[in-house]
This record gives sequence, C-alpha cells and structure tokens, in this order.
Amino acid sequence: MTLPPPASMPAPAGRSPAPAGRFARISGWGSYAPRAVLTNADLERMVDTNDEWIVSRTGIRERRVAAAHETTASMAAVAGARAIAVAGLEPDEIDLILVATLTPDYWMPSTAALVKEAIGNRRAAAMDVAAACSGFVYAYATAHAYVTSGMARHVLVVGAELLTRFLDYTDRSTCILFGDGAGAVVVSVSDEPTGPHGIELTTDPAGAYMIWLPAGGSKSPSSAETVARGEHFIRMEGKETYRFATKSLASSALAAIERAGLEPDQIDLFIPHQANIRIIEAVAKGLGLPMEKMFVNLDRYGNTSAASVPLALAEAVDSGRVKVGDRIVFVAFGAGFTSGAVAMEWSADPANGARAGAIDPGAIAVRLPVDWDSVDPIPAQLADVLASPGPVDVPLDDVVPGEPEPARAHVR
Ligand code: ACO
Repeated sequence: MTLPPPASMPAPAGRSPAPAGRFARISGWGSYAPRAVLTNADLERMVDTNDEWIVSRTGIRERRVAAAHETTASMAAVAGARAIAVAGLEPDEIDLILVATLTPDYWMPSTAALVKEAIGNRRAAAMDVAAACSGFVYAYATAHAYVTSGMARHVLVVGAELLTRFLDYTDRSTCILFGDGAGAVVVSVSDEPTGPHGIELTTDPAGAYMIWLPAGGSKSPSSAETVARGEHFIRMEGKETYRFATKSLASSALAAIERAGLEPDQIDLFIPHQANIRIIEAVAKGLGLPMEKMFVNLDRYGNTSAASVPLALAEAVDSGRVKVGDRIVFVAFGAGFTSGAVAMEWSADPANGARAGAIDPGAIAVRLPVDWDSVDPIPAQLADVLASPGPVDVPLDDVVPGEPEPARAHVR
C-alpha cells in the first residue's frame, strides 16, 4: 500500500475543523508494563525448558504479567494518558482513538471505547485495529491518513496486549515467548513539513494459519469442547513464522525507507518488533547494518505483540536513543501474515517524556459492567508469580541490572 505525500492528499473533510497544515508528527509517547515479572526460571518450573535454551534461541530473559485487576484496556489507558500528557494535550483534544490489539477485553465493545472513557475523553471516535503484532504500525498509518487528510487534528494510537491469558502453559514452544504491556503515541497535525516520511503495509494470507487462535470466533464459538481441546490458546508454526519474519521485516523496512527518499545507512535507529533477537540480528545483517542501530528490549518484556513497537519506541526516546532530527524506522510483522514499517524524522523534544510522570496508573480505571463478575482471569500456572511481591516502582528500563539503557525516574 502506498501513501502519497501529504501535499497530494484530498481537501480536508470530516468531523474536525480543517487544520491549517496537513502534515503529521508524533507529539507524544508513553508506555505501561505491569509489575509482576515472569522469569525464565519461573518457566523452568512449568514446562521442560531452561534459561540457556530460551536466551540462546530467543534473547528473552523475562516478561511482564498483568495482575487480575488489569486488562488490555486498563494498560492501554495508562499508556495513552501518558502519551497525551507528553504531547501537552488535554484528553478531550483527541479526535480519534485507535487501539491495536489481538487480546481485546471483550469481543464487543471495542477496547478503544473503554480506553476513551477511562482517559476522560468525551468527543473522540474510537475503534480497534486487528493486525496482530503489526497492529500498531497499521494503526499509526491510519492515524497519519486521518491527520494528513484533515479528518482529525490529534489521534491517540495505542498498542496493548494481555497475551499471558491466551497462552498454553503446557506448550513450551509458545508460552516462553509472550508478555503483557502497552505503548502509545499521539499523532498530531503540523503546519510545518515534517521531514522524510514513508509507510509500507503488507498482508500475506498464505500465512493465515501460521499463528492463530482457533476458537472463540464465529467459525468455532467457545464451548466446553473447544476449551477442552485447548483451542482458546495461541498456536504457532515457529519455523515458518521465523522465515516470514526475517524476510518481511527487512523488505518492509526497505520499502518504507525508499518511500521516504532515504537510504538504509541514513537511518539512525531501527525499532523492530521485539519477537526474537535472532530475527533482529538477521534483519540487521540483511540490511548491512550494525546491531547498535537496532533497539532491543525484548530481553525484559518478551514479545508483547502490538504493544512491542510503541513500548520500545517510548523507551528508546526516554533513554536518549532518539534525538530531534534523527531518522528512525519502526517495523513489525505478525499473524496474518501482516507486516508494516514507517520511516520518519523524529521532531518532538525527548525531554517532554518527563511529563508522563504526572500520570498515576492507580488513578485511571476502566468502568466495570454492573451485575456481572468475571471468573478469575489468572491462569493457574501464573498464580504464584502474581502472588509474590513484584518490584516496587521499577523503571521500565531498569529491570535487569547491567542493561545498557539508563533508568529514568519518571517512567514506571
Ligand atoms: N525449551 C526447550 N526446548 C524447546 C523449547 C523450549 N521452550 N521450545 C521448543 N523446544 C525444542 C523443540 O521441541 C525442538 O526439539 P526437537 O529437536 O527434539 O524436536 C527443538 O527445541 C528445536 O525447536 P525449533 O522449533 O526448531 O526451535 P527454533 O530454533 O525454531 O526456535 C522459536 C523456536 C523460538 C519459536 C523460533 O522458531 C521463533 O522465534 N519463531 C518465530 C516466532 C515469532 O516470532 N512469533 C511471533 C509472531 S508475532 C504475532 O503476531 C503473535
């Protein structure tokens, strides 16, 4: 899919007043990760695996697990509220809320609708975007189109996932990979041209059943039988997915870079989907780039699907890896098979990230339904991890001692 440059976009129309300019830029960013940590050692007690295998095959050392009171919407709302604060906006200034997720709170309403209420916005349109791990990139592209066409001035784009409730903790090939979290950006209208910008999105249905969740949809509604067959858990063909990932991450990134009128060696930092360190290394090699240009935090969060890129982006900016004028690429692949990449010039002051500290996760609540209690959402195998006290106010980027990124006091 090719997005024409902003100058050739149609005249502004839609629900918001027409903006003075029709360029789009990221004005805010934010993230949220639950406190409980599931380590490789914890997984060794659940399935036949070991830390050495997991680290050498994936690079993952630990991942976060949402507490019983947390949901995809609650994590998305905190990350979103932080991004809005960093942008220096009030929640009501957001015209559109997009939540990319494959683990919505419910089939309906949309998770985005719950986020809208939780952050105190009264006027935005809100919808979810389903493109699995590429969802954030797809949602960003949608936001970019809304803003550059004049249909919105400020769009909140969130990637949020609560994957640990959809994993089979007897399947060692999948349960070691995934974790929970959320990341968000605000895409805002700009009067000034925003520098090189290119977007690439692809979908290859040949991979439709390489990563999938068989039951719960209209093809196979949930029943005692589907649950007994474990069809409410994520299934994956790891090798085929790996092959697609290495190919599509590189080709999507290259296409986006080309559309931006740039060369790969002009990119200061790549922020790839955090699925597997070997995939990221293969992409760096394929593009002829050193690993220093690849941002990596999967060792601490695992694969958080649609949350992975915005969680990494927020951490990269807050830890000083992205400066005004830097050219960055964020790129993802996922079930579908989908892939997507964005090449852009960063223009927001990283120091604004400190504003996220004003957002207290405890003050943001997703309204619960009346007269209905959910069953305990925590998988039995994770009960111990959630019962043990987690790290207290641990900065997102300081969970493992010795990590290269310095901790930032304002981010939790
Ligand atoms: N611990 C120990 N051994 C394991 C584990 C484990 N956790 N998992 C698998 N093994 C074993 C296998 O059973 C196999 O044993 P065998 O040789 O006796 O049969 C052996 O290790 C090798 O297994 P492979 O599947 O060949 O291992 P591979 O090197 O391919 O790594 C992995 C598996 C990590 C899953 C890799 O294929 C991968 O990362 N694929 C991409 C997955 C991915 O990124 N998914 C996210 C998609 S995004 C989304 O939209 C959700």
